[in-house]
This record gives sequence, structure tokens and C-alpha cells, in this order.
Amino acid sequence: MGTSRLVLLAFGLLAEAHKKVAYRFVQLTDIHMEPFYNPHNGHNKGDVCRVDEAFNKSQCIPFRIEPEASIYPFGRLNCDAPHALMRSLFKHIETVATEVKKKGALFGIFTGDIPSHQLSCQRHQGKTIEFVVSHMAKNLKPVLGKIYPLMGNNDFFPNYNVSLEPNSAWQELVASIYEANGLLGGPQLETFKRGGFYSAEPVKGLKLIALNTVVWSQKVLDWESTQTKEVVDIPAVDEATWSGPNAPIPVADISGWSWNTDVVSHKELWPCEKRPRDPYGQLAWLEAELRAAREAKQRVVIAGHVPPGNKVGDNNFCVQYLRDLTRLVRENADLIEVQIYGDHSNDEFRMVWSDDKGEAHAVSSVLVSAGVTPRKHCNPSWRLFEVTEDHRVHDFTQYYLPLVATDIVWSTKPEWVKLHREGKDELLSSKFWRKQYSFREQYGVGLSPPELEMLWVKMQSSPKLLKDYLAQMFSQTVGVHDYFDYICDMRYLDEEENEECYKRGRLLSAAPPPVAVEAIDFAEVDHENTGPKYVQIHPAMLGSLIGCLLITTGSTLYLFVRSRAASKDVYLQMP
Ligand SMILES: *[C@@H]1O[C@H](CO)[C@@H](O)[C@H](O)[C@H]1NC(C)=O
Ligand SMILES: *[C@@H]1O[C@H](CO)[C@@H](O)[C@H](O)[C@H]1NC(C)=O
Repeated sequence: MGTSRLVLLAFGLLAEAHKKVAYRFVQLTDIHMEPFYNPHNGHNKGDVCRVDEAFNKSQCIPFRIEPEASIYPFGRLNCDAPHALMRSLFKHIETVATEVKKKGALFGIFTGDIPSHQLSCQRHQGKTIEFVVSHMAKNLKPVLGKIYPLMGNNDFFPNYNVSLEPNSAWQELVASIYEANGLLGGPQLETFKRGGFYSAEPVKGLKLIALNTVVWSQKVLDWESTQTKEVVDIPAVDEATWSGPNAPIPVADISGWSWNTDVVSHKELWPCEKRPRDPYGQLAWLEAELRAAREAKQRVVIAGHVPPGNKVGDNNFCVQYLRDLTRLVRENADLIEVQIYGDHSNDEFRMVWSDDKGEAHAVSSVLVSAGVTPRKHCNPSWRLFEVTEDHRVHDFTQYYLPLVATDIVWSTKPEWVKLHREGKDELLSSKFWRKQYSFREQYGVGLSPPELEMLWVKMQSSPKLLKDYLAQMFSQTVGVHDYFDYICDMRYLDEEENEECYKRGRLLSAAPPPVAVEAIDFAEVDHENTGPKYVQIHPAMLGSLIGCLLITTGSTLYLFVRSRAASKDVYLQMP
């Protein structure tokens, strides 16, 4: 960073840190609700936690929401989210939102992925989407006012079966579910039907550009070339009104749609070279939207599901789309306040950099939020962003549910267990959510590209800082991979450069201090008792708790061992 840029940055930071927050928005992502939730055997079978009948890939049973689970009531690590977790989450957002609404405007952005992974058939996918969207409309819309939804890769069936042609039947179906629930309408509905994208002005002067980045993914399924087979379809007698003994919640009908019973037996992906240059004309549209924002003097927030750059060793986008997006972002970096994404189930940030060969600098902040499902992850989470009057995204606060501890404490109180069984637990369970961190408090800087760049530079010489970053990620892969890849991910969105960085960079010295596992104080939940009583702990639960501790401790050890083998000066060696 040059001296003049540093001075400018210092003044900017001083001015920014004292700005007043004018409005806020919620980011919710990767809900992955498991309708057939059964946590008893964990994810041992097919990587999902599901009742046997629904797991059988040869049949499509009547859709239902499983009755409340007797163990792991709010979710289990490595499992997708049960209904009770969604209830708890929506109630918690409502509580926080009701409070902050008194201080300014509020809206919500949902960055995609409603259903759990690997559902057996299209009907289950559609019904799960409908179920969750109707609950969003009922429980979140009244308090958030407006929720802007996006398409995730699991909002298609099968996963990543996104059509490269505009106005596919499935895209229109999902659009109509959002429309029927009052979440989308007007011109937004039209482009969402076309390809899952739209723009909006949630607050005067702020433009939200909602993208379908799934279609740019390398993993898009080529349905025509994929080998398929048919499942035995077993719908309920009248699924429109069906609410049998196992379905406490009646599931509404999606009228006029006949469910496809084909599933994948051997999948084929669309090679990047064979893709249309600009599916749905989304890139051309984006360019026009940015031009219009410039003319209208709006600030821009870009939202998508799959983020640009790397995900555990693979590039997310086909290179041509990555370059197109990068070019548009660079050209309009002065307008774009921040980009927000999901998909990774990891809390991460990265940057788009300028292409100056000599002195590249960060020009756009790309924030990846971890999301609700605990499937790859220690804990469910969501974010609340704060924005100043001039539409600067000032900070975000991340809330999380300490899952293992919540499950354990919950099962010690018979009256709570009863509430859960009756599906009326959200008022209490929402009180178990905690503030995880605020970005500014944690790192001492805001979210602008130069500030993230500064943080990135500092991370390379401060093991403590990198440790903090990893602790916030809550990822179970911590300790397995070389941490250096995260530093590369922040800097290089392009696959080749990223690999080059990863090959040449290395960890050098200084072990971070041991990770302290935070004790959770449930006193405010449980007024009668002085503290939680740890009785009746299910052995499997204890297993997860120990597992979580081991991961954290293991990663510390790993860093320690690595550091011993290296020299003392710097922590990380950049290429
Ligand atoms: C799976 O479903 C098929 C079709 O309904 C059925 O014939 C088969 O018995 C089921 N398998 C198991 C293990 O339940
Ligand atoms: C996959 O997508 C294609 C193209 O949109 C569609 O024709 C097909 O029905 C989809 N498959 C399933 C099982 O939904």
C-alpha cells in the first residue's frame, strides 16, 4: 500500500468509525431445512440425517414434516436443520429486529438454499421450499417488512439442475411460490422468473442487485446428458390438504404442477467451454443496472448465493463468468458498497483486487456468511448489517446458536421437552441464541476494501489474528488444511493464481495462544435454577461435544506443531 493511500485510509477510518447508523438489514442464508429429520444415527447414512423411508432413493414418499425429535431437538452437527431450529431462528430474528426497528429502517436478504441436501425427489424439494417460504412470510415478513430472496443451488432439483435457458418451468415455479407468499412481485418477479435475478431499492439511494450466481457455477448439471431413473411415486391421497398423524403442519398445495419423478443415476456437468456466453443475459443486465445506479447516484449492494473465488480447493465459477464479474466490479468499484454471499457454510471474507501489476489493491469486499444449517459447521448463525446515512455498510453483528449446549440443557427440563414435543418451543429456544461477534469489535476495522486489505496484511504477521478469524469460521475443516489457503483465497479469486499462491506460500512461526472454549451462561433463560444441570446427557450428544472440543484443540495443536518446524521472523510467507 502506498503512503498516500495509507494517509487517505487513516482519515477515512477516523471519519467512518463515528458515523451514525441509519438503517439495518438482516442476512439469512443456507437454511437447508430437513423435513424428514431423524438425528439418531447422525449423518452416517448417505451424509444425511433422515428417516429410512425418506432416505430410500428408489421412492418418493408422501411429504411430511417429521414430528419433533426426542434427541438433538434443535439440530445435530453434520445434520441439516430441523423444523424446530427454523422456528427458533425466526423467533430470534423477530426479537432482535423488533428491538432495532425502533432505531431505523430494516429489511432482509435471503441468499438462498432452502431444502436439505439430497432429497429423494422433486416433490420433496418443491414442498420444502413452499413450507419454508410460507413460514418466512408468516413469521419474518411482518417484522422485516421486506425480504429479498435469491436462488441457491439446492433451490433447484436435483442440486445445481439450473436451466441455461431463461424462464425454465422450475424457475417459474419457485418464483410463483415467492409471489404467492407476497415476497416477490412486479418487475422483480418478471426477472426472477426469467433467471432468478432482479434489482430493488430497499432504501432510497441504495440499490440491491440480487444475482443468480448458481448458473455461473462449474457444477451446473447437464440434465439432458445425465443418466436418470424414475422413483416410485407415493403421494398422499390428497396431499393438498394432507395432514396425517405424522404431519403436524398441513402442507399447502402447489396447484397446477405435475411432479417430475426422475432422479440422477449418473450425473454429467456442463463443461464451462460449452456454456452460453451470458445465460439469461444476466451479465448484460447487470452492466445496465450498474450504469443506471451510477446515473441515479445510488450505492449498490450485490447479493448472490455462490460467491466468486475458491471453495475448499475448487473454483466456484467458470473462469469466463468470474472474469466478467470481476471486470464489472472493478469498473464500478466506486459504486459497489459490499457484496454478500452464502453457500460455503463458513464465515469468510475475500476481496476483488485491482489489476495493476505493480501495486494491486483491494477494490471490492466480498463477505461470505456461514448460514443456518449446522451440516458442515459447528453452529447455526445469521447476520445483522448496519448501514450509515450515506449507505456505507458500517459493520455487521453475527448471532449464533450454541447448538450442543442448547440441546443438552434443553433435555434436562421436562417442561421444555414437552413444549418442544408440542412444537411450541420457539419463545424459549430463541433465548439460547447469542451474539457471536461484531466485525468492528473483533478486528478493529470496518468492511471497506482498504480496511479488509489492511486486515489481510496484518493476518500474515499475526498468528493471533488469523486464529481469531478461524475461530469465527466455526468450520470443522480447521486443522486439516494448511491455513495458508485462506490467505490465498482472500487475495486470488482466479483458480490458477490461487493455486500458485497456495503452492508457494507457507506458515513460518509463532503458535497462536490456545483456544479457550467459551462457557455459556444460560442464567437468563433459566430463572429458577442457578445453572444448568447436566443430567440425562445422551451419549451421542456428549460425543459431539467432545468432537467439537477436539477439533478446536486439534487445530491449535496443529498450528503449534507447524510453527515449531519453522523460523521465527514472520508467521506467513507470501509468494
Ligand atoms: C425402497 O423403495 C422401494 C420402492 O418403493 C421398495 O421396493 C424397497 O423395498 C425399499 N427399500 C427398503 C430397504 O425399504
Ligand atoms: C432438471 O432441469 C431440467 C431443465 O430445467 C428440467 O427439464 C428437468 O425436469 C429437471 N429435472 C428434474 C428432476 O426436476
